[in-house]
Amino acid sequence: MRIHYSEATSILIILQTLWWGLNSQCEEPIESSKLDLSVTYDLPHFVSDTPIQKLLEFNGTVYVGAVNKLYALSKDLKKIHEYNTGPVYEGRDCSAPDPCSGCNNKPINSNNTNMALLMETFYDLELFSCGSVGNGVCRRYLLEDGPLDAEVTCMYSMKNKDSSHGCPDCLAGPSGTQILNVMSSGVVRFFVANSEPLDLSVPRLHHTISVRKMRETQDGFEFFSDQSYMDLAPGLRGNYPLHYVYSFQSGPYVYFLTVQREGGSSNAFHTRIVRMCSSDPEILRYVEMPFECIYSERRRKKRSAQVVFNVLQAAHVAKVGYDFQQEMGLKEGEDVLFAAFARSKPDSPEPTASSAVCLISITDINNFFRDFMQKGYTRKLSHFPGSEEKNFNQSPYSGEAQITTQQVFFNRLQQPLYWSL
Ligand SMILES: *[C@@H]1O[C@H](CO)[C@@H](O)[C@H](O)[C@H]1NC(C)=O
Ligand SMILES: *[C@@H]1O[C@H](CO)[C@@H](O)[C@H](O)[C@H]1NC(C)=O
Repeated sequence: MRIHYSEATSILIILQTLWWGLNSQCEEPIESSKLDLSVTYDLPHFVSDTPIQKLLEFNGTVYVGAVNKLYALSKDLKKIHEYNTGPVYEGRDCSAPDPCSGCNNKPINSNNTNMALLMETFYDLELFSCGSVGNGVCRRYLLEDGPLDAEVTCMYSMKNKDSSHGCPDCLAGPSGTQILNVMSSGVVRFFVANSEPLDLSVPRLHHTISVRKMRETQDGFEFFSDQSYMDLAPGLRGNYPLHYVYSFQSGPYVYFLTVQREGGSSNAFHTRIVRMCSSDPEILRYVEMPFECIYSERRRKKRSAQVVFNVLQAAHVAKVGYDFQQEMGLKEGEDVLFAAFARSKPDSPEPTASSAVCLISITDINNFFRDFMQKGYTRKLSHFPGSEEKNFNQSPYSGEAQITTQQVFFNRLQQPLYWSL
């Protein structure tokens, strides 16, 4: 266990104290505040016609995914172009050739909410925007000639109609999605994790966690095999909140962060970090581990009190800067995960107003995975059935040859994986 203390995290504590202070009286002024409140800032801004869901910056252009719109903005947030993505007509009686646009000549009944926005640069300079209509199919914008002249394709292939793997073109699930595109050995793989709907009436077209690639014709997606996805156990569907909060790539791995039940007999919620190999066309080396942020208050002559922040709200991965690198003893250019956690209401994923930010290097996360797996602190995943049947005999990563889809577990009191502010 390492204790990382830094000025930045202490600033976060001060902000939190400020918030709490609203409920009490007689606050001490905060001396360290350097914010000049008399200055009026004239910041560049852009006002969208509809609510914004996603934002992505690439090479000086800002792409904004909103309800029924996709905007391309300049660096100073001036509109370069806008694409209409909705509203559309959707219905059972509608067998449109292009589910991205719904049915023509029918009264409009669905807004298109942006569910995912991602840039792919290995094959072409292309932007994928996946909406809520058409069961989460994506539009592909070929940007070689700039955003004004983008060639737009609906990523839906009729050839996939009778696929034995469900709907390979349906990427974004209705309850929220995390999509990560990663180039590995000359192939771009799309890792997709869909949060679980709590509504059983929604037809199940989306796999919970999956890896796929684009068809060679670049008009849709395909799975390598039925080992390329895992689905929540049928008995848990509709009553197992599983929320994917964030995803990132680092080194040879892809990671997903989830909030879900602790499992077993507990109804309490916690956060888990999931790791897979980005080179795998199938989900062969899946491991997950509980992930919490624990704040230890140091009290004089008393045992330190611990506060567990259990539900992740937001996260970000960045290269470590100079200050953190010095304080945490990291190598230059290492990836660090910044994770904002809250304490939840009892037996609920709903956050309370008590929150904290923790940071940890990806190297440390990988060391935890390695150590726990080497010690054999692993068990079968309980929410993904059939996963233990997978086997992988060759592994470029030593010590992981037999570790396939497993959950690393630990006793919180004996083996805490935590970071203190
Ligand atoms: C980035 O933008 C510059 C200037 O607009 C352009 O010359 C360059 O080709 C762009 N790079 C990519 C990868 O699109
Ligand atoms: C679409 O969104 C607009 C604005 O939020 C709303 O007024 C309208 O009712 C929505 N349409 C449908 C079909 O949900």
